[in-house]
Amino acid sequence: SEVKKIAVISGDGIGPEVVAEAEKVLKRTEELFGYSFETEHALFGGIAIDQLGTPLPQNTLDICKKADAVLLGAVGGPKWDNNPSDLRPETGLLGIRKELGLFSNLRPAVVFDCLKDASTLKPEVLEGTDLMVVRELTGGIYFGEKFRRQSPNGEEAVDTCSYNVMEVERIVRQAFEIAQKRRKKLASVDKANVLETSRLWREVVNRVAADYPDVELEHVLVDNCAMQLLRRPSSFDVIVTENMFGDILSDEAAMLTGSIGMLSSASMGEGSYGLFEPVHGSAPDIAGQGIANPIATILSLALMFRLTFNYADAADSIEAAVSEVLNAGHRTSDIAVDKSKAISTSQMGDLILAAMKK
Ligand code: NAD
Ligand code: IPM
Ligand code: MN
Repeated sequence: SEVKKIAVISGDGIGPEVVAEAEKVLKRTEELFGYSFETEHALFGGIAIDQLGTPLPQNTLDICKKADAVLLGAVGGPKWDNNPSDLRPETGLLGIRKELGLFSNLRPAVVFDCLKDASTLKPEVLEGTDLMVVRELTGGIYFGEKFRRQSPNGEEAVDTCSYNVMEVERIVRQAFEIAQKRRKKLASVDKANVLETSRLWREVVNRVAADYPDVELEHVLVDNCAMQLLRRPSSFDVIVTENMFGDILSDEAAMLTGSIGMLSSASMGEGSYGLFEPVHGSAPDIAGQGIANPIATILSLALMFRLTFNYADAADSIEAAVSEVLNAGHRTSDIAVDKSKAISTSQMGDLILAAMKK
């Protein structure tokens, strides 16, 4: 079969540690299934600031654009936290999403039965939880005009939030399509009791809903949604929401699965091109120790196989291997009940490789 090009940007902190395990899984997929991948590594985030003076070098963007898909670790860290905005790793992340047109961030949160005891919530509440957050990724307050000015009460900071119909409609349609292929339930999350952007959001959702009569739609205010996610997580199927609400709710959903180290994501545009990254960040508190959970990144690779390459066999194989290893009781420390038995990042990667079957 033809060679697929993957841009690999590992970033900062635990980024390189978890991406290394996903790359091992990539190699194993070639051996098992006969697919061929060509990887090209590029600098991104804090390490790119240090070496090239910018978080998103043009060359990195070019490598990503030439590739069929991008695998990303994480960026950021205390070293760059006091930098001006254009020299922040996070600015590079927003830039790459915008430049590559990745407006739709899919964040599945699935509770593995054997991990119910790893969550801080009661196992019976988690039973059957399998939801997908569809987060708008290139609009809203993240991308609005920001500035400082003087006010009579001292310096003032302003962040603006805007959405237009096109931006809302394209993400909402994707969410309806995804819901149609799942349990046909969609929760649209907004703050329409206060925000004008949310009122427009809701109007668009209601209009688009007419094209998807088989999908059961509910509107949930974001504060209530944050609460319902903990009260009745298994009742959610697909959740669609704007950029910042989706950022916050998906970290909350991570705790249903036991750890943010379990949560994968796909950032997509209109086509099959995508950027695949764990939901978590660079975890400076555990970086360099070889103890990070690589499963979020490995499952993000599985999402790449499924959504970009249509290699469902390889995606199934990886997901089954992750289940098998977890069912056998292997845990990194973030999901271990008995931390003294926790295994390392590379041990977890090796076990998953070994469990992969054709
Ligand atoms: P974080 O997700 O990096 O870490 C939050 C907590 O979860 C930490 O205690 C961390 O140790 C733990 N954790 C995260 N991933 C883990 C894993 N794979 N295995 C085990 N434990 C894991 O969030 P933060 O601490 O708020 O942010 C740290 C830095 O990462 C900041 O600079 C932030 O801007 C950046 N960040 C980047 C991304 C990204 O690149 N996509 C996402 C979120 C945060
Ligand atoms: C994420 C992160 C980023 C976001 C930050 C690092 C810019 O939290 O990918 O969830 O808020 O989108
Ligand atoms: Mn986040």
